[in-house]
Amino acid sequence: MTYNQRNEIGSYFETEDKIINCKQENRFDFDFEKLFSDSTYVFSGRNAIELALKDIELTKEIRTVYMPSYLCDSMIDPFLENEVKIHYYKVNYNFNLKVVEVDINKNVECDILFINNYFGNNKLVNKESIDHFKSKGTVIFEDVTHGLFNKNFIENSSDYYVASIRKWLGLASGGLLLKKNGILANKPIINSDKFASTKINAMELKKKYLKGFNVNKNDFMKIFAESDKMFKEVGTKYKIDTHSINILNKLDSDLLRKVRINNSKYIYDQLKRLEFIEPIFTENFRDDICPLFVPVIIKAGKRDELRNLLIENGIYCPVHWPQNRGQYSNIQNNELSLICDHRYDHNDMERLCAVLKNWDKINSETT
Ligand SMILES: Cc1ncc(COP(=O)(O)O)c(C=O)c1O
Repeated sequence: MTYNQRNEIGSYFETEDKIINCKQENRFDFDFEKLFSDSTYVFSGRNAIELALKDIELTKEIRTVYMPSYLCDSMIDPFLENEVKIHYYKVNYNFNLKVVEVDINKNVECDILFINNYFGNNKLVNKESIDHFKSKGTVIFEDVTHGLFNKNFIENSSDYYVASIRKWLGLASGGLLLKKNGILANKPIINSDKFASTKINAMELKKKYLKGFNVNKNDFMKIFAESDKMFKEVGTKYKIDTHSINILNKLDSDLLRKVRINNSKYIYDQLKRLEFIEPIFTENFRDDICPLFVPVIIKAGKRDELRNLLIENGIYCPVHWPQNRGQYSNIQNNELSLICDHRYDHNDMERLCAVLKNWDKINSETT
């Protein structure tokens, strides 16, 4: 019997195959042991943040954190749940200058300064500000999720680096915590495989669905949604699951990087000719930046219109990030993260860009 493949782009990862073929371990492009005093895999990105927080609290009382106003709820929750007061510094898009601006007030008293590597770009908070807070005894947390596969993601002198690895590929769980100096207390010790099985099942069903098997999309989407909820419940004592660590051990990160960079180059090139769609970080053409997505700003408040059109064409692009905890940035309402990941080839990118170009043309002609 032959099956017709379904050509959807984006959304949850299905079970990986293409990039899981490496005989030698080359997970990331840096050597944990040389660069850091200590490190551990954890179940999720939020658990990495919480474990770092608990690690500092062993020696220092933490009352306040100074965080960017543009981030996802799960980065904020570990602080709220541990009764740490949050001050936000503004991160907004300047529509005239076409740049992301960060407004840090050096006089803010805080125990932790939290900086985020946005879409591979970790230069938004300048070295001078980081050094200023460091000199006052503030602990620096850096979220490197978006830059995890960059050639050199460790460019700042932060005390803790945290990341959600699972955002990059089909892992049931996966976070990373790196400590610059000293040993990490309370690393995860409990097996988490029972939590991971739901997501593994959903990824497998999606894979079958894409191959054209008779699988109901709603069924696996429900399972994915259930497994999303689980991340709120699995605490810092739980390790990354066995299935995910096995995948990381066989990950061909050179291939992951190569495909993503090629795909994103094509998209960036196509965007140059468009009027309503602007890349947020034009400098991300660099070969040493491995993109998670290609983040764009959709002008004239038309983001949802374009997003829905892409969905009608079987292309599912996320928004970074829906805001529910009182953080505010003007980026959330105008941003769309274009898919460029290792699952897709040049034909897929052409298909994605064709929708963007047609939409942009119609808009340009009617305004
Ligand atoms: C930059 C960043 N860091 C951390 C997290 C939290 O990761 P996880 O969902 O694995 O807990 C997220 C979640 O979206 C994120 O976007």
